Amino acid sequence: MEEKQLVNLLETLTVEEKIGQLIQLSGDFFNTDAMAVGPVQKLGIDPHMVQLTGSVLNVLGADQVIRIQQHHLEHSRHKIPLLFMADIVYGYKTVFPIPLALGCSWNPGLVKACNELTAKEACAAGAHVTFAPMVDVVRDARWGRCMESTGEDTYLNSVFAKAMVEGFQGDFTPGSSLASCVKHYAAYGAPEGGREYNTVDMSERRLREEYLPPYKAAVEAGCALVMTAFNTVDEIPATANGWLMDEVLRREWGFDGVLITDYAAIAELVAHGVAEDDKAAARLAMEAGVDIDMKTACYANQLQPLLEEGTISLKKLDEAVLRVLKLKNKLGLFEDPFRGASPAREQELKGSADSLSLSRQAAAESLVLLQNLNSALPLQPGKKIALIGPYADSKELNGLWAVYGDKDQVVTVKSAFQEILEPQLFKSTQGCEMLDSYEGLGSFGYLTQADKRLETDEQRAAELEQAVALAKWADVVIFAMGEHTLQSGEAGSRTDLSLPGIQTAFMEQVLPWAKESVLLLFNGRPLVLTDIKDKVDAILECWFPGTEGGHAIADLLTGAVNPSGRLTMSFPYAAGQVPVYYNSFNTGRPSKTSTHSLRFTSRYLDCPNEPLYPFGYGLSYHTAEYSHLRLSSTVLRPGEVIEAEIEVQNTSGTSGDEVVQLYIRDLVGSVVRPVKELRDFRKLHLQAGEQRKISFSITEEQLKFHTKDMKYAAEEGNFELYIGNQSDNCLMAAFSFER
Ligand code: NOJ
Repeated sequence: MEEKQLVNLLETLTVEEKIGQLIQLSGDFFNTDAMAVGPVQKLGIDPHMVQLTGSVLNVLGADQVIRIQQHHLEHSRHKIPLLFMADIVYGYKTVFPIPLALGCSWNPGLVKACNELTAKEACAAGAHVTFAPMVDVVRDARWGRCMESTGEDTYLNSVFAKAMVEGFQGDFTPGSSLASCVKHYAAYGAPEGGREYNTVDMSERRLREEYLPPYKAAVEAGCALVMTAFNTVDEIPATANGWLMDEVLRREWGFDGVLITDYAAIAELVAHGVAEDDKAAARLAMEAGVDIDMKTACYANQLQPLLEEGTISLKKLDEAVLRVLKLKNKLGLFEDPFRGASPAREQELKGSADSLSLSRQAAAESLVLLQNLNSALPLQPGKKIALIGPYADSKELNGLWAVYGDKDQVVTVKSAFQEILEPQLFKSTQGCEMLDSYEGLGSFGYLTQADKRLETDEQRAAELEQAVALAKWADVVIFAMGEHTLQSGEAGSRTDLSLPGIQTAFMEQVLPWAKESVLLLFNGRPLVLTDIKDKVDAILECWFPGTEGGHAIADLLTGAVNPSGRLTMSFPYAAGQVPVYYNSFNTGRPSKTSTHSLRFTSRYLDCPNEPLYPFGYGLSYHTAEYSHLRLSSTVLRPGEVIEAEIEVQNTSGTSGDEVVQLYIRDLVGSVVRPVKELRDFRKLHLQAGEQRKISFSITEEQLKFHTKDMKYAAEEGNFELYIGNQSDNCLMAAFSFER
């Protein structure tokens, strides 16, 4: 449709019909052809507004979507199609690793390909919009939603934000693309104390420097929607924050897409204490620039009276509605309201060889080898293997936000090993339960975890006995342990970052019998591994690896694939350290270089300042050496480029991937600058013994920051450039920036 036709359409809508376009309701409102009374009453929405609703939340499956759309169109005066939006975060039926794991691949091209595939699968199931990517910078492992982000680094998250948006949206081709909704704008990743939905407060400089760029990168990549965050920003909830949405997002960044709230966020303005009732909440959200109200009755019931009193202008309403109509048009819904939804295509795409192989590759590149003492890995052929633990034969490898993932397709670690090992060399048992107590976990909507519970003391004793017997029999014991799926993701905040106590107690009882031990970890956040690491030989961080997780893990353990994952979020030494991240400030009393006596430096008395495993860290089966860091010049001037060159050599007989990381430090600024900031990286494959020169271009752009007077500019002075294989293991060269 031409834009002019959209404007004409808008003009023919009644005020109520316009408001309808700004309402999003969930599937329970559309389950039958008749009005679903229960949800209507519960939400307190005027029933006839349900008929006018413009979009639907989290309903997928071609049959259902087609039925709801058909019914809607039959009853809609103007035949404006419904928009179907859903949380398709890291896969639809085929599930990829959680984003925190995908980040560890340092492979944006791969992640883009994953999203392209996801878009195809989800389109066939009737989806139009995905609430992804989630690009919140995360530095506090207590927060359960770390799993949904690619990590703690602003630059890396920005690179992934772009790749993810491009992967989902492509060029908006019907049938193979989704409109992408970046979230949660803004700074949702920094709740105080890591507690879900808690207050966020930080300086504007920090917000702009560290938290906003990934959202901006998504906007620049053309993402069609932005979702507001639940939290406050400068003591104003994001959903009512006109500065954030109108001034920064729309005016500064030029975003002209649709702004949607997070779930029930408008009504929550009342609980926040900035609105006395739903009407005030609707007014605040509308004034701040929110287009779509997700799952409250605020817009549905309150916009009309607000318009009648003249508190909200018709112009403001029209602008919001036009943005929604434009999105529907961009998706081609006026031409084809079903947009590729097809039960046959859904079936055809299910479990295709391409999707499974991509899922396997993504998982393999996301796993991070954290420890490998005595070259315990890869497993030597012919060794007897005992696989023990609650994740040994679990299909719960998708993590919390893969709500549509096809669990039946998940390959467990046990089944993957059974495919490749002789039966006489492989045994497995559950060993222990996942958790000491399931109280307080609650459920997550329609997602539940079917754990194998051990009901009696006799069962527990028998399992332990069996595990000890397997450990005595085996040459290598592999423990498959981790967090319960419900311990991370939304509303999954924890203060204890260790493995569940029942699992560590169990391991202590079995480990004395293990000749060699490998720990596989399944979790949605960095854990504290300080104690457990001294008790096992090798640790492989598996995260929640998705559909093909079992195969990928077996590939790495047997050496068919050489691990290449590198952490994108620091693993704390102790929970009391968090937030702990590599690009912190030096402070006035840095513990290593301060002239003050150690006591009076910035440090803990009982724990190092450094994390146990830093950003960028990860082991491989090969070794590499970095040498001969050279700069083409030691002075950079505006418009010029310094080439930074380094030699990387694979010093082993095994080929493998290196993630070459480039960091810059601005030594003196008008405001304090981080001790190091990632500015570029390259992932490369090196054959055994291969040596390669890698070159990075350094420009003024990479030196820019928000200066004392809030200009985004580079300042003259001295810089240090670091290149290495992890944030704390680099070669350094100095240069200056002069005008
Ligand atoms: C709440 C979550 O915060 C958000 O990420 C999600 O997209 C919405 N619910 C919709 O399910």
